[in-house]
Amino acid sequence: MWLAPLLFIFVIGLIIVLDAKKPRNFPPGPAWWPIVGSLPEVSRWRKKLGTLTMAATFLAKQHGKGKLVGLRVGNDVQVVLASAELVKEMATKPELDGRPRGPFYRHRTWGLRRGVMLTDDEFWRDQRRFLTRHLRDFGLGKASQMETIIMREVQALTDYFKTAISNTADGKALIPLHNAFGVSVLNTIWAMLAGKRYDPDDAELCTLQKILSDMFASMDMTGCLFNHFPILRYVLPEASGYNYYMTCHQKLLQFLQAELLRHKTTYMEDSPRDFMDVFIAESNTRKDEDSNYTDIQLMAICMDMFMAGSDTTNKSLSFGFLHFLRQPHVVRKIQEEIDSVVGRERPVTLDDRHNMPYTEAAVNESIRVFAAHAIAVPHRAMADSTLMGYFIPKDTILAVNYNGLFMNEELYEDPWTFKPERFLNEKNEVSLPDHFIPFGVGRRRCMGDTLAKTNIFLFISNLLQTFNFENPKGRPLPDPFPIEGITPFTQLYDGVISLRD
Ligand code: HEM
Repeated sequence: MWLAPLLFIFVIGLIIVLDAKKPRNFPPGPAWWPIVGSLPEVSRWRKKLGTLTMAATFLAKQHGKGKLVGLRVGNDVQVVLASAELVKEMATKPELDGRPRGPFYRHRTWGLRRGVMLTDDEFWRDQRRFLTRHLRDFGLGKASQMETIIMREVQALTDYFKTAISNTADGKALIPLHNAFGVSVLNTIWAMLAGKRYDPDDAELCTLQKILSDMFASMDMTGCLFNHFPILRYVLPEASGYNYYMTCHQKLLQFLQAELLRHKTTYMEDSPRDFMDVFIAESNTRKDEDSNYTDIQLMAICMDMFMAGSDTTNKSLSFGFLHFLRQPHVVRKIQEEIDSVVGRERPVTLDDRHNMPYTEAAVNESIRVFAAHAIAVPHRAMADSTLMGYFIPKDTILAVNYNGLFMNEELYEDPWTFKPERFLNEKNEVSLPDHFIPFGVGRRRCMGDTLAKTNIFLFISNLLQTFNFENPKGRPLPDPFPIEGITPFTQLYDGVISLRD
């Protein structure tokens, strides 16, 4: 009679002990507790230091010589990397090119793994190749086409700021700068994908971006509660954030479905207008059941580009302008460079870039101060592997913590301060160190680095050519400490914009 309960207790005890056991030669890190893994230790340091990225940097210093830390959060076995050499080592191993599989990554695309950013293996290779080839036809990576598309947006935002200024008595407009660039930057990728643009204050798009940014703020790149503990989406769908996550994606889906319908009803076989048309043409030629070219896949790609393509660039600009308000001398130096190289009579173009090293360095510094609080899109080990001599079991999630790289005082002196000079050599030329890898390396490297840098350069240079940006009188300077989320946000802040004399 006692045997059954004793056996039950023994089995449960065994499961608990095994659940807390680390694989042999796994990267060092805090202890794993049954069920929750290292979550209590991560949460403790996250609370103490302010962000998950800072906690991960601290734990890597404490356990893994500042280079890496091995964790388990609920279901997910994770290794967080905090050194450029390890990111490069990861890139040499194709088996580490996978993307995570949990509900967080699957349910955004209707329970299927679709898109390009969060898929892997042959499906991803095929789709990445197709996307790269055809986005190029519509301008991605081609300097003159990108410049035309971006300059249209720079002009629209300039007009928008000028109208705001003309509506004031003293010629000084107070503008919320933390999200001033969202729609303009999205338009530059959307022009290639869907051949469409929106005004900076377009109500539908602003609402959609607000929904997405609220959702981004409610989770982080390593997943969220219902991903670490999948059972929660059934037992606590509201409290675990699952319902909210699904509602946000539903709204984005409705927006994309309307765009797809518009494309299908106006589609003309012989004259593709944008990437969506090319994809529709491809799917018409592949009617087989297991085709990768489905409506769902097209919408998933658009969703990826909507998020990856606009959010990161927009936030690099927001972080950059936040620091411009804090350090007016940086703005003065950029404006002096613009005045001496270009003057005020014509816009700044891409051809001017190689004569404007300080501005170009400020572009890279804007990316650094944004990425310094980010965890990159995680990888997944598709087979057993090794890193730095440690064992990486199949299905381990590998997350690059850019905080460990870009806030490392040994590599970036005074890392909280915006210093374009750190990217200039003694000959006053732009010089990027090998460890400055904000776009990743290898086969999964970012697909939009050129577009991002071109956007940031043309927006910063042309806006500073026309306007002065100042902190509102009587208000404290905006705080550079980030608000964390899937990608980091700046604190909410306003800038006073006026026309230059
Ligand atoms: C400052 C701006 C940006 C930064 C810092 C950035 C950074 C990154 C990083 C770190 C990755 C992950 C690399 C890896 O997994 O190893 C990535 C992936 C990606 N990025 Fe960007 N990115 C930016 C802008 C853009 C833009 C403008 C686009 C749009 C064309 C874009 C499209 C993508 C895509 C599609 C991926 C997934 C690639 C794949 O999984 O194969 N990104 N980005």
